Amino acid sequence: MLNIILMGPPGAGKGTQAVRIIDEFHLPHISTGDIFRENISKGTELGLKAKAIIERGDLVPDDLTIDLVKSRLSQEDCANGYLLDGFPRTIAQAEALKKMGPEIGRAVNLVVDITVPDEVLVQRIAGRRVCPKCGASYNVVSMKPAVEGICDRCGSALIQRKDDNPESFKIRLDNYYAQTAPLVDFYKAEGLYHHFDGMEGLEKVSAQIADLLKKTL
Ligand code: AP5
Ligand code: MG
Repeated sequence: MLNIILMGPPGAGKGTQAVRIIDEFHLPHISTGDIFRENISKGTELGLKAKAIIERGDLVPDDLTIDLVKSRLSQEDCANGYLLDGFPRTIAQAEALKKMGPEIGRAVNLVVDITVPDEVLVQRIAGRRVCPKCGASYNVVSMKPAVEGICDRCGSALIQRKDDNPESFKIRLDNYYAQTAPLVDFYKAEGLYHHFDGMEGLEKVSAQIADLLKKTL
């Protein structure tokens, strides 16, 4: 069983690697960021609560995020594994997941952390374009789609995220160091932690992660 957490700073390549992992290992991709953005574009109650917070680069409150993940993980398609991308992001979220996982029969068994130096993250975020439909990430410099502005996977028009501006990115990075980086020690203590150097190049990082997943199966 692969019950995976994918973590790392904003722009490290979580979404990029997630798409490859779910295509190869047939897992549901649960990206809290994608779920919030979908709610924002549909104008739901959750979307209205999250919109301003996300656009300025802050974290959505733990209670909202934890409830969202609990109901998503409880769905039938997560019974045989899942890939969490961008959750947990605070110690309170990690504690909640540690409690809810076994309760709903979905305990985490692997944590994959991808890190990249800050100066590279800034560049990646500046050039990023994303698919609003399937969540795939591209880059106008380093990872161009086959046809400019169009998603290779699903054919949708690519967009730039509203929080991919220098001011919001700085807040996201500060929040990462203050609130998310402490999860490294949390998951080392749980014996679940695996680190990958996101500077190794897309194919090499994908291959290293795939090796770990195959060994875990
Ligand atoms: P979320 O959507 O999760 O954003 P994030 O964590 O800031 O991470 P990103 O999606 O920006 O980066 P990524 O690591 O996925 O990078 P990517 O693969 O796209 O969250 C957004 C917001 O939602 C949060 O700020 C918060 O407000 C809220 N939220 C979400 N979860 C929450 C939670 N649990 N609690 C509270 N609030 C929450 O790659 C980036 C770029 O680099 C792309 O252009 C890509 O093409 C390029 N790239 C990737 N890999 C490589 C490589 N190896 N070499 C060269 N370029 C590469
Ligand atoms: Mg992402």
